[in-house]
Amino acid sequence: MNSKNTKLGNKKLFIKTWGCQMNDYDSRRMADILGPLGYKAVDSPVDADMVILNTCHIREKATDKVFSDLGRIRPHKEKNENMLIAVAGCVAQAEGEYILERAPYVDMVFGPQTYHELPEMVAKATNSYGDNRIVNTEFPAESKFDFLPEEHNSQGPAAFLSIQEGCDKFCTFCVVPYTRGGEYSRSINEILDEAKKLVDNGALEITLLGQNVNAFHGEGPDGKTWGLSQLIRKVAEIEGLERIRYTTSHPRDMDDDLIDVHGEIDKLMPFLHLPVQSGSDNILETMNRKHTGDHYRDIIAKLRKARPDLALSSDFIVGFPGETEENFEETMQLVRDIGFASAYSFKYSARPGTPGANMQNLVSDKIATERLARLQALINEQQRDFNKNSEGIVMPVLFDRKGKKPGQIQGRSPWNQSVYVQGNERLLDHIIDVEITEGYASSLTGTIKTEESVMQSAS
Ligand code: 5AD
Ligand code: SF4
Repeated sequence: MNSKNTKLGNKKLFIKTWGCQMNDYDSRRMADILGPLGYKAVDSPVDADMVILNTCHIREKATDKVFSDLGRIRPHKEKNENMLIAVAGCVAQAEGEYILERAPYVDMVFGPQTYHELPEMVAKATNSYGDNRIVNTEFPAESKFDFLPEEHNSQGPAAFLSIQEGCDKFCTFCVVPYTRGGEYSRSINEILDEAKKLVDNGALEITLLGQNVNAFHGEGPDGKTWGLSQLIRKVAEIEGLERIRYTTSHPRDMDDDLIDVHGEIDKLMPFLHLPVQSGSDNILETMNRKHTGDHYRDIIAKLRKARPDLALSSDFIVGFPGETEENFEETMQLVRDIGFASAYSFKYSARPGTPGANMQNLVSDKIATERLARLQALINEQQRDFNKNSEGIVMPVLFDRKGKKPGQIQGRSPWNQSVYVQGNERLLDHIIDVEITEGYASSLTGTIKTEESVMQSAS
């Protein structure tokens, strides 16, 4: 191994992350675990002592993408034979041994629930005796959260905190229950401790993360099971924390108390990502979503009653097996009825091992592509309207990064819109009032309203 890199405390770690915010969280935690072993994060695989590909399996071609990345990394390992290559995340969980077979230069394959064992895995992989390649895709009885070190590095003003993992819903298109396992919730005390540390390290906003976050049922300090609504009330008491968000939710778990919290807790931002997937009751049934279009409409009506300025986002799948033109039109109608501030939409792709993969009545790619384009045109129109309606409004913006243009800074509105302004970098890491001048397709621009006072306190 290149001796320059192997000195304790001087090993280079490159992590590439695909997919959801949960994967971003996991990658950060892997870096936290490897820190005491001397690894420091770098932003290129060239010269790295360890490369981790933290993968996502949710949609099409995930495995192919991983193998093509591995192919690009292989020459670096040929130059530096002691480089460790690991495949982590949901593709690792789903493909296991196959990755080692197809890519003999990969040293470790481990899933989302076992990365707390990284120190042992690294020790085994670097041991020069016997077969030291590793596949670790168990669902261990103990929780990785009990073994993770404290977060070492500040996440900045907008932080993410994983509170729940896995899912028991088994939507027929989805790999999550298989790759992430059954639902697991962390305890309230554990979450509050981590939230306080994030705030001590500069977080003004915390997004509570989970694959099915509103199914959260963690052990409370009183020994009873607490729901997400109770957790949010407690997190809101943390001094210095200004904003709370949570994602991703399932309509079935949107209980009345959680709806009430949206009206009650000012720190809970007026934006909710609530995937519906389809507006057709037939398709929702074959998807095993356990809700109907009207059930979704009722929840939104109650939420808007509790918090009239609530903006909504969702996920949609088009071209699910059996989807007729009429079924698709019901999805379009649901979008018209609700009015979204933003939304993600995807063409269905059969995921191996899910019930959907065995379904008949497939929709042709041509039809699915055409439906996706129609749906996206409608969503884009709604998003533009929503952004246009922000013009002239003064809103608090959390600035957390530099913008793309010189002298520009970028932040998020309460409604999760990207906001760009010309402003001094000293305004970063602050929440500042901005008057919105223009609303575009996917962002807003504005001018600072309260610069004077902030500049004084920031200086
Ligand atoms: N095909 C297409 N989209 C999918 N999603 C999940 N599984 C699939 C699939 N097999 C989408 C859903 C989900 C989002 C994270 O990804 O809309 O809410
Ligand atoms: Fe997948 Fe979400 Fe359905 Fe769970 S609720 S199976 S994570 S789509």
